[in-house]
Amino acid sequence: MINPDTTYHVMGLTRYVDDRDFPSRGLHCVVFFSPLARGKIRNLDISAARKVPGVAFILTAKDIPGENQIGGIIQDELLLAEDEVTFAGMPVAAVYAWTEEAAREAVGFIKIDIAEETPVLNPREAYNRNELIAPVRSFTLGDVKEGIASAVYVAKGEAESGAQEHFYLEGQGTVATPSEEGNLHLASSTQAPTMVQRCVARVCGLAMNRVEVDVRRLGGGFGGKEIQANTWACFAALGAQKSGVPCRMVLRRSDDMRATGKRHPYSSDFTLALDEEGKFLAFKVIYYQNAGAAADLSTSVLERTLFHATASYYVPNVHATAASCRTNIPPNTAFRGFGAPQAMFVFEAAIREASRISGICVETLQRKNLIKTGDCFVYGMAAENARAERCWDKAYAHYDLEKRMRVIDDARRKEKHSSGQVSRYGRGYALMPICFGISFTTIFLNQARAHIHVYTDGSVGVSTGAVEMGQGVNHKIREIVADSLGITPERVKLESTNTIRVSNTSPTAASSGTDLNGAAALMACEMIKERLFKFMADQYQCVWQDFSLRDSRLYREEKACGLGWEDLVMQAYHSRVQLSAEAHYSTPDLHFDTSVEKGRPFAYHTYGTAYFEAEVDRLLGTYTIEKAYVVHDLGRSINPLIDLGQVEGGMVQGIGWVTMEEMRYSEAGRPLTATAGTYKLPDISSAPLDMKVKFLEDAHNDRAVKGSKAVGEPPFMYGIGAFFAIKMAAGSENASYCCAPITPERLFMELRAGV
Ligand code: MTE
Ligand code: HPA
Ligand code: MOS
Repeated sequence: MINPDTTYHVMGLTRYVDDRDFPSRGLHCVVFFSPLARGKIRNLDISAARKVPGVAFILTAKDIPGENQIGGIIQDELLLAEDEVTFAGMPVAAVYAWTEEAAREAVGFIKIDIAEETPVLNPREAYNRNELIAPVRSFTLGDVKEGIASAVYVAKGEAESGAQEHFYLEGQGTVATPSEEGNLHLASSTQAPTMVQRCVARVCGLAMNRVEVDVRRLGGGFGGKEIQANTWACFAALGAQKSGVPCRMVLRRSDDMRATGKRHPYSSDFTLALDEEGKFLAFKVIYYQNAGAAADLSTSVLERTLFHATASYYVPNVHATAASCRTNIPPNTAFRGFGAPQAMFVFEAAIREASRISGICVETLQRKNLIKTGDCFVYGMAAENARAERCWDKAYAHYDLEKRMRVIDDARRKEKHSSGQVSRYGRGYALMPICFGISFTTIFLNQARAHIHVYTDGSVGVSTGAVEMGQGVNHKIREIVADSLGITPERVKLESTNTIRVSNTSPTAASSGTDLNGAAALMACEMIKERLFKFMADQYQCVWQDFSLRDSRLYREEKACGLGWEDLVMQAYHSRVQLSAEAHYSTPDLHFDTSVEKGRPFAYHTYGTAYFEAEVDRLLGTYTIEKAYVVHDLGRSINPLIDLGQVEGGMVQGIGWVTMEEMRYSEAGRPLTATAGTYKLPDISSAPLDMKVKFLEDAHNDRAVKGSKAVGEPPFMYGIGAFFAIKMAAGSENASYCCAPITPERLFMELRAGV
């Protein structure tokens, strides 16, 4: 069945937070942001703003009834500035008015006097000043010194990757409605309803049981609403709490872009050592992560970077060090891939440099070193059921890559030999293998609950902790439930995600929404089925295991019993059989010991290989991605159409990150690209002209629900291949300094400089 959400989206019938009916007797919140990146607040004057007609009240830090603290992992982030500002876009005051226009007008009358200080924008500079979010972490395997000492080739270089704006189509927002008893109901656009509940409870000085968070769906999250939805939910909640009327806080695009965090930019130094044949012997790396002004999820993102330090490859000796560096830009946050893309980019750059100095072709180095079953990752876990080589080889065979690459190689060779004249157009290719660990690296988050009601007419309602954000988790769970109960998906309804129905939810993140919540839903179905079958076994005088449900009918030992689903349910109800169930799932066999940085942090890994071809106009620096051919390991897909959408969408988002998306700040730390007009997003015309995705066959996965594999994030990292295909096409093979994104502007400069 096709995901019915898509029909609603296309018809414009889908309703997001700001599409809800909002009462005219409700307040609108608009935030006054710090215009400067760093400094002490000398004076804040809200008197003129207060007088603007329609303004109800203005809140500053001292008006917060609970704690002025919204830090998640580390308690270092204020909701409203107190005596200093640490980034341009930091909330300083919140204006509440009866119309959004009045609130916005009032914001214009707020005056702030800041003793400006020079901001730190570069993570290496922050590191040198010891501006660290947390102590530096290192992962080691084997002996790197020895590995490098015994090497024939040692490639060294630097790689930099940039920020990325989430650009969810629905901006951040929450509508808060108070009740008579002073409790709060929040309709929020968040990936983490429980985080919003906890954060709002803390800021408003309420117990968590007095804050209900309801999430119908998001118009995209991509990690940007894993923790950063909290801020805006708090503003809505504070307004509703103080006024006793509903309060709406929805960011307009430009405010969303300048006030929220992005993907973390990284600057890294690498050393990759190889033997004569091109076997990797040692990898040494240090990552300088640009965390922004507060911790947010940075330490967790950094941890995933370390986990993915060697990308899809086996390296016996590794020393990977990572520093989360505090700078004066908005706190950076989760973004699809969660630190792993940054790590994989560095490793792929290192391979290009290793190829250049050794003369061994890139694909030989890649293929030779792909991780195999039993090989150890830097964190001490051995790869189980590794499918890196299978995906790689399948891509070669299925897309006839050998031949494709030879055509391009021949053309390039001819060009080299012809009178030194470089042609205007150049073509290049790159393969990009991926290997991504599935599970939250924060182990306690790997749990979920599902609550299922079977109603007396046979229809089914399902509540879980999963948040639908366009990735199709609701529909996947619908299909899991329908299949388990042997009914059509149309009979199953996915309810909103609500903290009253399902409590203590983990964020829908780490690609594990279906793995966790789908597994819990399946368990709840099994519980209900067992009760129904036991009830029938009494009547048939047999064992309950003889029964099954299929085609909306009851079967006993593969023979239809002549009883339909509806009748079965009704009979069970009249016999007082419980028709609801709640189940709890927690991923087995996960452990990690941070004192030695070793363990088994992931349930399993997802693999795949992408092949890219690009053409570059060497005169203008412009390019097109001509081909993207993928072989992807999905396990046994629950819904291939949804998964295809995730693979294609993720890959294009990854291409955007390394090619055209560029977040720039002025020297004073002010964002220069905080509008849709100045920030270039990938659109349909920047997607590869020819995109093919093949799912690996015969790829059952024992470690996730129904043999499937998580799909949300891994395909993002294919995009990195586009960068290297463009580099090759441009003829700039020196990879001792790789800088993404390779915007046409940067490529033009590189071509002029002859890099
Ligand atoms: N797909 C769409 N359409 N919209 C999104 O916001 N988020 C991505 C991915 N795919 C996202 C998406 C991210 S960052 C993650 S972690 C996963 O979906 C989360 O959902 P899942 O765990 O159900 O795959
Ligand atoms: N991915 C996404 N979000 C997270 C993770 C992770 O691994 N760990 C904690 N939050
Ligand atoms: Mo995704 S970055 O784990 O929300």
